Amino acid sequence: MPTRTSDRAEPRSGEITPKNLYERVRAALRERDALCASDRSAVPDATLASDGRRSRRRKFVGAAAGAALAPLAAASWAGRTGAGAVAQDDVHPDARAVASGQAGAAKLDAKPSPFSTMERQTPYDDVTGYNNFYEFGTDKADPQRYASAMRVQPWTVSIEGEVAKPRRFDVDELRRLAPLEERVYRLRCVEGWSMVIPWIGYSFVELMKRVEPTGNAKFVEFVTLADPKQMPGVRSRVLAWPYTEGLRIDEAAHPLTLLTFGLYGEVLPKQNGAPMRVVVPWKYGFKSAKSLVAIRFVERRPQTSWNRAAPNEYGFFANVNPQVDHPRWSQANERRIGEGGLFVRRRPTKLFNGYAEQVAGLYAGMDLRKEY
Ligand code: MTE
Repeated sequence: MPTRTSDRAEPRSGEITPKNLYERVRAALRERDALCASDRSAVPDATLASDGRRSRRRKFVGAAAGAALAPLAAASWAGRTGAGAVAQDDVHPDARAVASGQAGAAKLDAKPSPFSTMERQTPYDDVTGYNNFYEFGTDKADPQRYASAMRVQPWTVSIEGEVAKPRRFDVDELRRLAPLEERVYRLRCVEGWSMVIPWIGYSFVELMKRVEPTGNAKFVEFVTLADPKQMPGVRSRVLAWPYTEGLRIDEAAHPLTLLTFGLYGEVLPKQNGAPMRVVVPWKYGFKSAKSLVAIRFVERRPQTSWNRAAPNEYGFFANVNPQVDHPRWSQANERRIGEGGLFVRRRPTKLFNGYAEQVAGLYAGMDLRKEY
């Protein structure tokens, strides 16, 4: 049981009530629509590159707005490498290899998103070869080594609990539920490393709109596959299986929360959570549960695997915060995977992983040291 996290089912301020739930969801949708509307200059600065490429970002944003007028069928990587988009130099060579079809996996069409960072993307080989997916083992290379045994077709995801329209979706149907976007997000692992990954998906709130959470839905629980026949790690006791995670309903409804089906222009590799995962970029990576089989809308804060395993080390909220250290190491800075060389310095970690402008309001009035 959690020892340091609050026992209350919800925080003092920002309390969710049946009355304000839909207002919150509507506000999230309005925010999303405003950002995706033609005035792309309204994109908050926190989503822009902090490394002096702001003018390029504006150029890309302009191109994206133009592209919105054209049919959105062009693959995102084609969009990035096309005229008026990001210069070739900004695109990692591995990304170009994927764009030119060398990787062999099924392509996904996606439109560019104003939520994307323009930071240099982590090489494809690192994104798909350095993973945490304990169902396949605890070594960073285990997921790539063993995940090929996982069957991802057919695959269904059941939407349960406090929703007006519970149902089981085929994953292909879920993927078609809303237009896919490419979101280049920072991923910060609680272990002190980070990556920049071009995910493909749509805001989780799009699914919420379809299943209509009731006024009792205050949290969302994400349940993932745990099949010892396909996943050797599930035979170990390193975690309580299935791996589960959870979000408060307003966190789930935030437009940055991404239901994710692909990366680098293709369907998700198995080691990254095929066929569908959630990505929550302002939280430590363990909140971004892979290979989802059920999504439950619930009234009480759900138990989560890492919180159960070590409640004093892994809180329910797990917001990236350089001022709140892990009991066994500092969270003040991070190692960006793929940045080689002897003299590469660790980067300072940013509050909410650099997404404070968009998400800090969710935690107004909360003591982030206690509700870590
Ligand atoms: N989801 C499941 N089902 N099992 C896991 O072990 N690990 C988490 C998260 N999602 C994990 C999971 C952790 S600790 C991190 S950092 C991210 O996945 C890593 O995602 P990536 O391997 O795609 O970079």
